[in-house]
Amino acid sequence: MEIFLDTGDLEETRYWLAQGVIDGVTTNPSIMLSAGHFEPRGAAQEMAALLGSLPLSVEVVTDDLPEMLDQGRELASLASNIVVKIPIETTQGQPCLEVIHRLSRDGIKVNATACLSFGQAMLAAKAGATYVSLFGGRISDEGNDPRRVIGLTADWMARWGYAAKIIVGSVREAINVQDAAEAGAHVVTVPPKFLKQLADHHYSRYTVKQFLADGRAAQKQVETRVATRILSEAHVRVAGGEER
Ligand code: E4P
Repeated sequence: MEIFLDTGDLEETRYWLAQGVIDGVTTNPSIMLSAGHFEPRGAAQEMAALLGSLPLSVEVVTDDLPEMLDQGRELASLASNIVVKIPIETTQGQPCLEVIHRLSRDGIKVNATACLSFGQAMLAAKAGATYVSLFGGRISDEGNDPRRVIGLTADWMARWGYAAKIIVGSVREAINVQDAAEAGAHVVTVPPKFLKQLADHHYSRYTVKQFLADGRAAQKQVETRVATRILSEAHVRVAGGEER
C-alpha cells in the first residue's frame, strides 16, 4: 500500500520524504489555503520539483465544466508528476465524468476527488481516472461505514480488472489508516500529524529509554574497569621502583 502526504507544507514534505515512507502528496484548495499558498500554481510547481517523479495531486478551482477541462490541462502542463484533481460532480450535481474521461484520454493523470459512495467511485474508474479518492472521514460524517465502501470498491476494481487506485483521504484519526489498509485501499493520504502519531508509541519510548540507560551503565562499567586497571598498573610500577 502506498502512503501519500495530505499537505501543502513543503517542510513537512521534505521531512517525510527523508524518512522514506511517502509515495506522493495530495493537496486541495483548503489545504493550500491553510498552508498560506494564495498563488497555488507556484506552490504546486515547487512541491512537484521537490517530489521528483512522485505524484502530486492538485485540484482545479471552478464549477464550470469547460473551464475545468482548461484548468486541468494547464495544471498538468506545470510539471510531469502533477495529477489533476477533478471533483466527481459540480456544486449543482452535474457529473464531471466527461472532464475526467477527456483528460484521461489525453494522457493526463486524473484523481477523481470527493467521492463518497461506491457508485461514484465505480463511475470515476470507468471514466478512466488513475486515482479515485474516497473521503473516509466524510463518509463517516454521514453515518456510513467507510470500510464497507472502500472494501466494495476495491473488490469490484479487482474483479473487473480496473487499473484505478483507490486513495482513501479525509483521515481524522490515526486508526483510520489501519482501517483503510484492512479494507483494501491502494493508497491512504495522511496529514503529517497522523504520520507522527503512527510512528510513536509510549512503550517504545520506554523500551528505548531502558536500553539506553543499560547501555550507558555498561559503558560506565568498562570505563571504571579501565581506570582501575591503569591505577593498579601504576601502583605496581611505583612499588617496583621503590624496591630497587
Ligand atoms: C485528499 O485528497 C482530500 O482532499 C482530503 O483528505 C480531504 O480531507 P478532509 O475531508 O479532512 O477535508
